[in-house]
Amino acid sequence: MSTPSDIKSVNLTTLNKFKENSEKFTCLTAYESTMASVISDCGVDVILVGDSLGMVIQGHDSTLPVTMDQLIYHLECVVKGNQRSHIMADMPFMSYSTDDLGLENAKRLMQAGANSVKVEGGEWISTMAKVLSDRGIPVCAHMGLTPQTINRIGGHNVQGRDPSQKEKIINEAKTLEKAGAAMLLLECVPGDLAKIITDELKIPVIGIGAGVHTDGQIMVVHDLLGISCLEKPPKFVKNFMENSASIQDAIKNYVKDVKDLKFPSSNHTFK
Ligand code: KIV
Repeated sequence: MSTPSDIKSVNLTTLNKFKENSEKFTCLTAYESTMASVISDCGVDVILVGDSLGMVIQGHDSTLPVTMDQLIYHLECVVKGNQRSHIMADMPFMSYSTDDLGLENAKRLMQAGANSVKVEGGEWISTMAKVLSDRGIPVCAHMGLTPQTINRIGGHNVQGRDPSQKEKIINEAKTLEKAGAAMLLLECVPGDLAKIITDELKIPVIGIGAGVHTDGQIMVVHDLLGISCLEKPPKFVKNFMENSASIQDAIKNYVKDVKDLKFPSSNHTFK
């Protein structure tokens, strides 16, 4: 198993190799330079500048108010602190409502230092995934619970529990892979569904609330540090500060537990 010091700089090839070698990789959100530096130094492979910043930094009750300019401001801070991690940047709500707008905004994120962009959606983003990918922009498609559609789906509910929804998610994930998506992120889906998708796709699959079988895991850094903005943290969240002496220890324990398949446990997984 590779150690963080073996890897100078994490890129898509590194993440694909992790999948090929059945070695788990780790991702965490960051929104500013010092935390990005600590996270990267602790061996986290991917830093996501997530639109969760709307909740944990700005104090909104959803990710919808986050703008492109705000995302770019936080991305530039993270880029300055990062040493070796792959930086993924979120495309905010409505920043890709047409394919042309998506291309223009993805270009801005890449020019601000992102290594890939994350876009919420299923089949409907497949043309855009191809357009971006053909132009050299790696796309991570975010499926399952997609927080930007919270008003339509009616809450932070587990997705893909009934058979028709499950089949739809599997088919759309395959369509996105064919279209050129470089990665897939599954949020809040049953562990068995995440396993099927991870096994069937060649691209790396990252999970949050999706069980232990995805190729990589991601957490919002505030959740890992036990300072979740929600009154009751979701089932899939683990407070790594509880058994750690410092923030650095908590992040290193997260990396170790993911690599050793100890996190997420069955208690953190939807059936
Ligand atoms: O914005 C974010 O932090 C995310 C994670 C929850 C995956 O999309």
